[in-house]
Amino acid sequence: MEKIGIVGAGLIGSSWSAIFSSKGFDVVIYDSNKNVENEFKKRVETFLEELKFIDNKINIEDSLQNIKFVHDINYLSNNCTFIQDCSPEIIEIKQELFSKLDNSCPENVILSSSSSGMPISLITQNLKGKNRCIISHPVNPPHLIPCVEISPSLNTSDEVVNKTKDIFGKIGFSIIYVKKEIDGFILNRLQGALLNEAVKLYSEGYASADHIDSTVRNGLGLRWAFMGPFETIDLNAPGGIKDYMQRYGNMYLNMEKNNKILPDWSETNAIKLEKERREILSTDQLLKRAQKRNNMLKSLRKLKKDLNEEVIN
Ligand SMILES: NC(=O)c1ccc[n+]([C@@H]2O[C@H](COP(=O)([O-])OP(=O)(O)OC[C@H]3O[C@@H](n4cnc5c(N)ncnc54)[C@H](O)[C@@H]3O)[C@@H](O)[C@H]2O)c1
Repeated sequence: MEKIGIVGAGLIGSSWSAIFSSKGFDVVIYDSNKNVENEFKKRVETFLEELKFIDNKINIEDSLQNIKFVHDINYLSNNCTFIQDCSPEIIEIKQELFSKLDNSCPENVILSSSSSGMPISLITQNLKGKNRCIISHPVNPPHLIPCVEISPSLNTSDEVVNKTKDIFGKIGFSIIYVKKEIDGFILNRLQGALLNEAVKLYSEGYASADHIDSTVRNGLGLRWAFMGPFETIDLNAPGGIKDYMQRYGNMYLNMEKNNKILPDWSETNAIKLEKERREILSTDQLLKRAQKRNNMLKSLRKLKKDLNEEVIN
């Protein structure tokens, strides 16, 4: 078993810790802020309970025993074989961290980042150990959404790619392999396309924030838990995807050609959106709603399993 090092004990670091420890991996966790240890432990316990709902074989006590919180990052360099960065999405922090780890870890240690959108070559461009660096980007919350994007750079060795795939395979994750480096990888580019369009439709006054959300919540999203955009359109024309593309291709092409406005991500628009959202969900209810989201995800995972639709690739 690889020994997993995790840097950053926030939301994502806690979730990775719960996942790896529950699958029997030893996990060593480090955070530059010593005060986060208690909060981390509470979060990991909650996440393990959520994981147990999906897989009742998980033993929470044993999993917790597999996790060690340390206050010296060098402990990871000396003891771990796979290190997963979960530090904030700030390029300077990640560059400094990877440089420190590259200088202190033996050559066989894989350095991987949870970054949401930064290509690994940008983080590691000046390192001598570029070949052992890779992106393994999760979806939040990772312990309930078992999907990871693996994005190497041209410098990453095949051995590192294969070992990384193997590790995430062992924890039952579906792997999205990004063949060429691109900002935002696949997931956040797809999410970005939808978000950019939603922001445009809202700021140009075509529909309220809630009606735009409802289009996904009560419409498109019902299908998306089971199939992606290509399978969706494959089933939406009698002759399959080619038939769909012939029937509707021009409609989508014209929308794209006529799409000249940039989405309004300004503070003014954010304030307007915030006001509309807070009328629907007050600030003090945000956490409760996130907990309910996690409960709904747990039920959805169970349903997919029962329907034999939890296809891991
Ligand atoms: N939150 C999400 O939805 C999400 C989803 C996928 C990927 N990610 C990515 O995961 C990473 C972590 O995000 P998060 O949401 O867990 O952030 P977070 O703010 O919850 O946690 C970051 C943790 O890193 C610690 N930290 C800061 N600088 C550090 C350093 N130099 N060394 C060690 N620890 C340090 C902080 O004290 C904090 O505990 C980011 O790269 C983010 O883009 C986040």
